[in-house]
Amino acid sequence: MKILVLGHKGMLGSDLMLRLTAAHDVTGIDIGDFDITAGDDCARVIAECSPEVVINAAAYTNVDGCEADRERCFAVNAGGVKNIALACRGRGIRIVHFSTDYIFDGRKETPYVEADPPAPLNVYGASKLEGERFLEAFSDHWLLIRTAWLYGQNGKNFVKAILEKASAVKTIDVVDDQIGAPTYSRDLAAAVQLLIEGGQEGVYHLTNRGRCSWYEFACKILLYAGKTDITVRPIRSQGLARSAVRPAWSVLSTRKFSEETGKTMRFWQIALQDYLGLTGCRG
Ligand SMILES: NC(=O)c1ccc[n+]([C@@H]2O[C@H](COP(=O)([O-])OP(=O)(O)OC[C@H]3O[C@@H](n4cnc5c(N)ncnc54)[C@H](OP(=O)(O)O)[C@@H]3O)[C@@H](O)[C@H]2O)c1
Repeated sequence: MKILVLGHKGMLGSDLMLRLTAAHDVTGIDIGDFDITAGDDCARVIAECSPEVVINAAAYTNVDGCEADRERCFAVNAGGVKNIALACRGRGIRIVHFSTDYIFDGRKETPYVEADPPAPLNVYGASKLEGERFLEAFSDHWLLIRTAWLYGQNGKNFVKAILEKASAVKTIDVVDDQIGAPTYSRDLAAAVQLLIEGGQEGVYHLTNRGRCSWYEFACKILLYAGKTDITVRPIRSQGLARSAVRPAWSVLSTRKFSEETGKTMRFWQIALQDYLGLTGCRG
């Protein structure tokens, strides 16, 4: 398949490039070569590449930054999706796009399924939800994947932040009242490949299996990295000066993915060990 990856230098985009180039004709493009907020730029790159599938991994992902720059956040995460959808419409091009657990308010007590009603608590979540709606309204063929708590080799992420802190201080405070599913971007890229090759369309939830709080996640990162001299203290979200409110419980059900592909995602602890280079965990 001829595939164009938008945002190919980002955390997920770079893993998608690595994963898909072995089996497909893949081109990547990122900010600097095009701007997703410019409709004519989007039309140009789609026309030049003429792909069968466009994967949109470009986004404005700074959750607190979105509160301060609402206009840019919506321009990239919502307007950008509309631009891509319009550029692909009528050409038989399938769009693969990503959204987030932060479109939910976290008040449910069982894993969110694809049909659950969204109710975002912050600007980032609201912009991603509008992007979802634009995708559905303006494209003919689309696959929407909601994921959560991503970490990978490229870009800033929680695992890197905890390890950096651990090399500077002996005690780290981490919130224990937000529960989610940490997800290795390489695992997500492999699952995305399955869905693309299977021709699936519609909404899918995809994360690693299991759930934890950020506090539990930090404890496991330090344990697996052998940093047992670091103390992690659980704190409440209220104790952190962050501008964006996060959902307290945003676990996504991956049942639909498993039922349709016959595959299950790895548990997050196994994926984390793999990411940290521990042996015997490759999956
Ligand atoms: N990270 C998470 O925890 C998480 C959780 C749930 C869902 N998601 C979703 O998963 C997808 C991938 O996330 P990610 O963490 O891999 O993102 P990322 O690392 O921030 O990568 C996004 C890429 O898009 C580029 N970009 C930003 N503005 C652009 C513009 N105007 N035009 C073209 N490219 C632009 C970025 O460039 P710069 O770096 O130069 O800005 C970056 O290369 C996104 O849809 C995100 O909303 C992520």
